[in-house]
Amino acid sequence: MSMEKRETFSSRLGFVLISAGCAIGLGNVWRFPYITGKYGGAAFVLLYLLFLVVLGLPVMVMELAVGRGSQRSIALSFQRLERKGSLWHLYSYVGFAGNYLLMMFYTVIAGWLLYYFVKMLRGDFTGLDAQGVAGEFGKLMETPGTMTLYMVIVVCIGMFVCLQGLRNGVERVNKAMMICLLALMVVLAVNSVLLEGAGEGLRFYLQPDFHNLMYDAEGSWVLGEAVFAAMGQAFFTLSLGIGAIAIFGSYIGKEHRLAGEALRIGVLDTCVAFVAGLIIFPACSAYGVSTAEGPALVFITLPNIFNAMPMGRLWGGAFFLFLSFAALSTVIAVFENIISFTMDRWWMSRKKAVLVNFIAVLILSMPCVLGSNLWSGVRVLGMDISGIEDFLVSQNILPLGSLVYVLFCTSRRGWGWDRFLAEANAGDGLRFPGGMRFYVSYILPVIVLFIFVMGYWSQFGPE
Ligand code: PHE
Repeated sequence: MSMEKRETFSSRLGFVLISAGCAIGLGNVWRFPYITGKYGGAAFVLLYLLFLVVLGLPVMVMELAVGRGSQRSIALSFQRLERKGSLWHLYSYVGFAGNYLLMMFYTVIAGWLLYYFVKMLRGDFTGLDAQGVAGEFGKLMETPGTMTLYMVIVVCIGMFVCLQGLRNGVERVNKAMMICLLALMVVLAVNSVLLEGAGEGLRFYLQPDFHNLMYDAEGSWVLGEAVFAAMGQAFFTLSLGIGAIAIFGSYIGKEHRLAGEALRIGVLDTCVAFVAGLIIFPACSAYGVSTAEGPALVFITLPNIFNAMPMGRLWGGAFFLFLSFAALSTVIAVFENIISFTMDRWWMSRKKAVLVNFIAVLILSMPCVLGSNLWSGVRVLGMDISGIEDFLVSQNILPLGSLVYVLFCTSRRGWGWDRFLAEANAGDGLRFPGGMRFYVSYILPVIVLFIFVMGYWSQFGPE
């Protein structure tokens, strides 16, 4: 319970676009293309789509229901709905930590996008060949000063918007950014698909080859790892498991059933990821850039497209601006969750919560900045700093947190199935089928746990 009156969204469109804005982010425009490139293209995409439907959507309905039912952030939502004496609310701290861990690398990468926007407008890439463009990315990685500057700008923008409040800040700014983003992506995809040499990239992206999913380029068996990554990506892209979607459920009324709302958010999110792939893979084949480039993929393929395009600087600038919008809308949404948590938990005013979190996010984002230069020798479980932060959130906290939401909504010891179903189906629109009870109570958790254990085994077990 914070000291201020709790705000709500001004419209349904606001709610859907802001939730979609939370879901649409680096996961769609940066992570999805590079993971798809790494695990073999179209076959991986199919697996990912399957997980979105069978795991992602039901969990999203549950998160929204917990948010709307409790009218609180993850700080107090479990506490409000659970039976006396149970311990579900302990998860709120893990969820909070998950939001922070996510922002610890997210703000940095969002900063890279913003920096690329500026570089595009300045014409820094003009005349460079593919190798030269790759070199520019290398230079950025070696310059902690620039990386810090742009990370700070991202954090300032995000916190400033949240300071203005839900309607005046978050809803107004994100709504405008999302509409611009959706429009521009379509134009860029058409342009990319029409490039000479696009065919090979399109085939890689759209024509499943299951051999690519099972073995990597060196012929090692990677299926377990790929399935694990596809599941992680499904939860990541929908922002599930740490209350980031639940918070927006807590700002709406009971006019519409939640399955319909979840479907709208999920479809928007999937369209953006799909179109991001349509922009990137044809360009990879057209400009001879490897699709298995990893996290640098977006930063070394896209400038090449714009170099070869009439008015490329302008287009490229606009493109990186809109990628930045995707990332910023997520940063703002997650900051809103963190701030709302702080207000609920420690009874702070919005102003004070913004200030405290502003300082904390700035400090905590530094290890990721340093991880690619001064601290590049640091390795945890064989991963660098941003890698391990991403791994902890995407492959651990998000799937296991989603499981917590599922068990909470289905178990008699938690909120319980009947209460969950009544909340999810209050209002009009698409009904969450009561017949799914057995599936979500037993099968879904087993799938998640099985993939989780198998993923750990194939990543860290004996060869
Ligand atoms: N869904 C966001 C993206 O795709 C990332 C995210 C994950 C946000 C979890 C909040 C919670 O970029």
